[in-house]
Amino acid sequence: MKAKEQLIVEQNRTAAESNASQNATSVVGVSKRFGKTSVLENISFEVAEGEALVLLGASGSGKTTILRIIAGLEQPYTGKVILHGRDVTELPARERGVGVIFQSYALFPKMTVEKNIGYGLRIRKRKRKEIKKTVNELLELVQLQDHRKKYPSQLSGGQQQRVAIARTLAYKPEVLLFDEPFGALDTQTRVHLRREIRALLRKVNVPAIFITHDQEEALELGDRVAVINKGHIEQIGTPFEIYNKPATEYVATFLGAANLLDAVVRASHLEVGTARVPVELDKEQFKEGSPVKIVFRPEDVSLSKTDFLRPGHHRIATALVEEISFVGAYERLRLRLEEGGDENGINSDPFYLTTDTPESQSSKSIIATRPKPEAAATKLHIGERVIVAITYFTVLALSGPKKI
Ligand SMILES: Nc1ncnc2c1ncn2[C@@H]1O[C@H](COP(=O)(O)OP(=O)(O)OP(=O)(O)O)[C@@H](O)[C@H]1O
Ligand SMILES: [Mg+2]
Repeated sequence: MKAKEQLIVEQNRTAAESNASQNATSVVGVSKRFGKTSVLENISFEVAEGEALVLLGASGSGKTTILRIIAGLEQPYTGKVILHGRDVTELPARERGVGVIFQSYALFPKMTVEKNIGYGLRIRKRKRKEIKKTVNELLELVQLQDHRKKYPSQLSGGQQQRVAIARTLAYKPEVLLFDEPFGALDTQTRVHLRREIRALLRKVNVPAIFITHDQEEALELGDRVAVINKGHIEQIGTPFEIYNKPATEYVATFLGAANLLDAVVRASHLEVGTARVPVELDKEQFKEGSPVKIVFRPEDVSLSKTDFLRPGHHRIATALVEEISFVGAYERLRLRLEEGGDENGINSDPFYLTTDTPESQSSKSIIATRPKPEAAATKLHIGERVIVAITYFTVLALSGPKKI
């Protein structure tokens, strides 16, 4: 099929299906090998019409490879790519109707902003009038009307990125893929631009897949986030779920600072060292006596000088304040947990800890943050003893054979 016919077919289909709740993009059981090295293992996810999915993962985890497979720039070893119900796995890149926006915007340096935006339509031999109309609409959409006659070198990074998006939207892609689109920009511009792009995508209702390794960006940009670790999906969910209900230790520590402590499941509570934290767990998944880990964020820690605890605050230990630092809106404390006795037959060295916070390598310390008003109301000092309670936590089953 010629590119032009393809476009007409695509547009008709898009119109017919714009109200359908069918998935815009499905990746089904995709695996990828380079030579003998497996880089993707059984990747499956779906993106709904108008949805923004973020692929979040460390460098080399396989994010770009996933995008390249969707775009048709790379063939999967097994699995399928389906766009609006059509299996495109065998189709070449230019027939897929996928718009890709990379970190380097790759604008044509010798073309003005409006020529850049209209380029895709000109090579598709659209009518002059139609091109002009579309370009005008897109210039307005990305708010670059006043810059239409400029060349890319005369634009800021954020403006160049908006031209790149407008140029891609011009040929009405079925899905937009963004590979680290804000990587080249300073923090302030990044934040500003990602909000703008999010608003823009909501307006045009085109599904989008973003790649980032910036967790804050992922949480803000995505309707859902897929955390990728070494070629497989660790967890996929809303930003709220990923942050507050991490399914694995990897997800918990990849998304910001997380405190992890060993615990043991009992009938109606968890034993954390010598403390008991009431909890209701799925009895099938969490058998009594089995070892688990509890995960809690620094902001889920509540510190007090007295034994009086507010409802919903669960005491887990006493601790010594080791370090206090100010991080803008928050006070951040490092606390060394004090060992409880070994009554109940528990290990006398109950706290095993990992956090992704580099300065807190030592075991048995946890990180807590307190908002300004609280820090001002109850001043704490280094060396002071405090009672540590948690207000929220997640329980992780230990993978592998049970120890008990
Ligand atoms: N053409 C190729 N040939 C061989 N190996 C490749 C090829 N392309 C990618 N890889 C390998 O596949 C793995 C995943 O690469 P990919 O580019 O998808 O990672 P990424 O998550 O995008 O990383 P980054 O955040 O650094 O961009 C890496 O180990 C990489 O070296
Ligand atoms: Mg990459």
